[in-house]
Amino acid sequence: MPSNSIDSLLHEERRFPPSAEFTSTAVAQADLYAQASADRLGFWAEQAKTLLDWETDFTETLDWSNPPFARWFADGTLNVAYNCLDRHVEAGNGDRIAIHWEGEPGDSRAISYAELTAEVKRAANLLTSLGIGKGDRVAVYLPMIPEAVVTMLAVARIGAVHTVIFGGFSSESLRSRIDDANAKLVVTADGGWRKGKVFPLKAAVDGALVGHAGSVTNVLVVKRGNNDVTWTQGRDLWWHEALETVEAEHTAEAFEAETPLFILYTSGTTGKPKGILHTSGGYLTQAAFTHKNVFDLHPDTDVYWCTADVGWITGHSYVVYGPLANGATQVLYEGTPDTPHPGRWWEIIEKYGVSIFYTAPTAIRSFMKIGREIPNKFDLSSLRVLGSVGEPINAEAWVWYRDIIGGGTTPIVDTWWQTETGAIMIAALPGVTTLKPGSAQVPIPGIKIDVLGEDGTRVTPPNGGLLVVSEPWPSMLRGIWGDPERFTETYWARFEALEGSKYFAGDGAHVDKDGDIWLLGRVDDVMNISGHRLSTAEIESAIDSHPIVAECAVVGAADDATGQAVVAFVILRSKHSESQSPDEASALLRAHVTEKIGAIARPRQIFIVNELPKTRSGKIMRRLLQDVAEGREIGDTTTLADTAVMQIISDKMK
Ligand code: WT7
Repeated sequence: MPSNSIDSLLHEERRFPPSAEFTSTAVAQADLYAQASADRLGFWAEQAKTLLDWETDFTETLDWSNPPFARWFADGTLNVAYNCLDRHVEAGNGDRIAIHWEGEPGDSRAISYAELTAEVKRAANLLTSLGIGKGDRVAVYLPMIPEAVVTMLAVARIGAVHTVIFGGFSSESLRSRIDDANAKLVVTADGGWRKGKVFPLKAAVDGALVGHAGSVTNVLVVKRGNNDVTWTQGRDLWWHEALETVEAEHTAEAFEAETPLFILYTSGTTGKPKGILHTSGGYLTQAAFTHKNVFDLHPDTDVYWCTADVGWITGHSYVVYGPLANGATQVLYEGTPDTPHPGRWWEIIEKYGVSIFYTAPTAIRSFMKIGREIPNKFDLSSLRVLGSVGEPINAEAWVWYRDIIGGGTTPIVDTWWQTETGAIMIAALPGVTTLKPGSAQVPIPGIKIDVLGEDGTRVTPPNGGLLVVSEPWPSMLRGIWGDPERFTETYWARFEALEGSKYFAGDGAHVDKDGDIWLLGRVDDVMNISGHRLSTAEIESAIDSHPIVAECAVVGAADDATGQAVVAFVILRSKHSESQSPDEASALLRAHVTEKIGAIARPRQIFIVNELPKTRSGKIMRRLLQDVAEGREIGDTTTLADTAVMQIISDKMK
C-alpha cells in the first residue's frame, strides 16, 4: 500500500453523511443490517430468491457440515446465463441496452439485452458443437470486446467452466493456466487495441500450445485486430465463420447451484498461481446483491461503468455477472485511459451519461498527477456514485475523486474484497453510511468480519491485527482447482485452533472506535501493483530461471502511481558479473520477466548486488531490502548472518 496513506488519512477528519435527497431514493435501506443480524442465513436465502430466478427452489441455505467446504443453496437449480439475459427479455426489457461498447480506436456498438441473449444462444450452440459440455473448461484470452462477455455467458449457459486469462499475461503464463485447468478449448482474438496499437493475442496462444500434448482440441479466433495470424488447420476456427454453422435457438438448462462457474488464477505466496474456483448460485446471489446495494443501482435509469478488465475478478463480478443479473445498462471500454488523449475516460462518461463509475485508486492517482484541467473539460454531471477497489484509497485521492470527478457531491464507496471472496465484503452503503475517507468501513449486511491478533483474540482499537471472515458467505471460493490441501492450508489453517472456521484473508487491518475497518495492506509476500496481485515468489522464480542469475530477491516498494512497484535485487553468476554491465543485465532481466509472466510483473528497478541479506538460517530478509527500495533508514539488522551486507547494498544504491 502507498506509504503515505496512513499519514494522510489522519489529516482528513471530515465525515460525509448521505444527503436527504440521496437517501430518499436509495436502494439500500438501513434496516438491512438488522435483518441480516437477526437471521443471517434467512437474509441470504431471501436475497437469493428475490434477486434470482430458480428453476427448482432450494430447501437448505447453507451446508457447512464439512468445513471449509461450503455448499450454498445446494439443492436449488438455476441457469446463470438465463438469469443474466433471457429473463430480462421475458420481462419486457429486451430493448434495454446491456452494453455500450466503445473500442479504443473510436468504433462503438450498442447491444440490447435481446441482442446479447441471441448472441449468447448462438455461441452456446457453437460450444456444444465443438464438444464442450457440462464441467469442461474453456480458456478465454480476449481483449475487452463484447465477445468476451458473450463467451463467458455461453460457457456458463451450458454448465461448462471458464477460465479467463488477462490479455497482458505472456504465452508461458497462459500455457501453465491452460494446463492446470486442462482446458479443451481456447477462445481468443487475432488482436486487440491498446495504446493505439494492435497487440497480438493469437500468437501468444500459438506459443502456449507449441508441442502441447494436452487437452486443447480447438482454438476459436475472434476477428478484431485485422492483423495477420498463423493458422493450424483442424484446430483453429474463426469465431464469425463457425457461428454461421449453428442454430440460433437455445434453451437454457438449469444446473445445481454448486455447479462450477469459473476458475480464476491469482497469485499466492508461492510461485505457482492458484486456480480459485467459484460456483453458481451463491456467487451470483452475492454479486447481484452487492452490485445493486453498494452502487445504488436503478437499472432503468442508471448507466454503469466499471473499468476493470474481464481478466480480473472485478471484471467477472462487476462487469459480467453482477450488472447483467441486475439488468443494468453498462459501458464496456476496450482500451487504455489515455488513448488517444488523456481525457478519454471522461469523454466516455460524458458521451454515455455514466451515472455510476467504479475504478481503482491507482487510476485516480495517475489522473491527479496530470491535473484537474483534463477532467474539468468534460461534463461529468451525470455521475452520482463513485466506487473504488483494489487497494486502500488514500484520503487525498478520495477527496480528489469526490471533488473533481464527483462534483463535490457523490458518495464514494471503497470496496474491500478479493478474488477468493468473489464479491464485495466490506463497503459503505450509499444513502445509509456516513462516509469516512480512507476507511473501507463496515462489512456488508450478512457478512461477518473480525480483526484478530496473532493469538486469535479480537484486537481492541487502535491496535491492528489480521483480517478474517468469521462465517461462510455465499460467494466464497469453493476451493483451489485440483489442490484441496493448499486451499485448507492457505486460508483456513491460520486460526484453526479457534472455534468455528475462520477464513484468513492475508490482509492487515485495524478497527477504529466507531467500528470502521481500515485496511493496512498484505501481511504475506503478495504485492499489489495497480490493484493487481502478484507474488514475490513468482517473480523471483522467473528471474532465477535466467542463466545469468545466481540468486535474487523481489520486494514490493511503495510507488506513488501504482501503490507498489516491483523492485528486484539480483546476484549474477560470477562469469556474467564481469562481462555484463549492470544496465545491460537489468534490461535483459526486465524483458525476461515480461516474457515469463507478462508486462504487469516487469520490475520497475533491478539492482545488481553481490550479496543478499540473510538470517543465520538462510532466509532472505525482504523487509530490509524494502527499506532500501523505499529509500528509508535500514531497520534492525541484528538477526542477519552478516550484518555488514546491508551497508554494502545501500552504499551501492547511492
Ligand atoms: C487484495 C485482493 C477485489 C478485486 C481487486 C483485487 C487488496 C482489494 C481493497 C480495498 C484495501 C484492498 C487486498 C486484498 N484490496 N480491495 N478496497 N482496500 N485493500 O483482487 O487481486 O484478489 O486482490 O487486494 O490486499 O487482499 P485481488
